[in-house]
Amino acid sequence: MSMSRSLKKLPEENKAVFNSSCARGGFFWYDRDMERDKNKQVIGIYNKIAKKYAEAFDNDRSDDRYVDRLLACLGRNGRILDLGCGTGRLAGYMQAKGFEVVGVDLSEKMLEIAKRKHPGIGFILADMRELELEEKSFDAVCLAYSIFHFEKPEAREILKKANVFLRPGGFLFLIVQEGEGEVFENDPLFPEDKIFLSLYSENEMVRIAEDSGFGVVRIERCAPANQDVEFDFNKLIAICRKV
Ligand SMILES: C[S@@+](CC[C@H](N)C(=O)[O-])C[C@H]1O[C@@H](n2cnc3c(N)ncnc32)[C@H](O)[C@@H]1O
Repeated sequence: MSMSRSLKKLPEENKAVFNSSCARGGFFWYDRDMERDKNKQVIGIYNKIAKKYAEAFDNDRSDDRYVDRLLACLGRNGRILDLGCGTGRLAGYMQAKGFEVVGVDLSEKMLEIAKRKHPGIGFILADMRELELEEKSFDAVCLAYSIFHFEKPEAREILKKANVFLRPGGFLFLIVQEGEGEVFENDPLFPEDKIFLSLYSENEMVRIAEDSGFGVVRIERCAPANQDVEFDFNKLIAICRKV
C-alpha cells in the first residue's frame, strides 16, 4: 500500500496521524486504527508478502543452529508451540527432528503455505494474544521473529501466556532484532510500506523474560544472514527457562 493510496482511503474520522518514529529518520502517515493496534497492520503486510517470504526464507537455514541448541535442551522429543510460525520454516525443521509441533499464526496467507508444505503439523489460525490452549501442555515455546511485531507491554503479556502453556521447567526460544525503542521500518520484501517493529537491547530482553517468569539460559547475537531480504539490525537469540 503506497502512502498516497492509503491516505485517500482513510475515512474522515480516521484521518492520518503524523508520526516520526521511523528507524531511519523521516516521517510517514498512518491511521488511527494502526495507532490503536500496531499489530493489525503487520498482518495485512504478511498476507501480501507471504509468497515472497516463503521464497526468501524457507530455504534459509541460518537459524537452524540456534534451534538445535533449543532442541538439545529438550532431549529426544517433546511438544513445541511455534507462535508466529509464518510459512512453517522452523516448525518444519523441528518436526523433522522428531518433535511434535503446533504452529500458530494470524496471517491466512502465511498459514496456507505452511499447511501446504508441512501437512503433518497442526496449524491454528489465531491471534497469539488471544490464544487459549491447555496449561502446562508444551515443552517449549518458539517466538522467532514474531514477538517484535508487538508493542512492548503486549510482548510481555504474550511471554506470560507462553509461560502458562509451558510445563514446569519448559523452554522459551526468542529471536528479536537488536536496538532501541519502537519503529516503523521499510520491509525489504515490501519496500512501499513500513512495518511496525519493537527493538530490544540485551538487558531489556533479559528483563522482559524475567518479568514473565523465565530465567535466561543463553543469549547470542548475530548479524543478518542476507541483507537483501532481512531488516538491517543485529539479532538477539535467547533460550530461557520457566522458573
Ligand atoms: C517474520 S515472520 C516469522 C515467521 C517464522 N517464525 C520464521 O521464523 O520464519 C512473523 C510472523 O508473525 C506473525 N504474527 C504477527 N502478529 C501475529 C499475531 N498477533 N498472532 C499470530 N501471529 C502473528 C506474522 O503473521 C508472521 O507470519
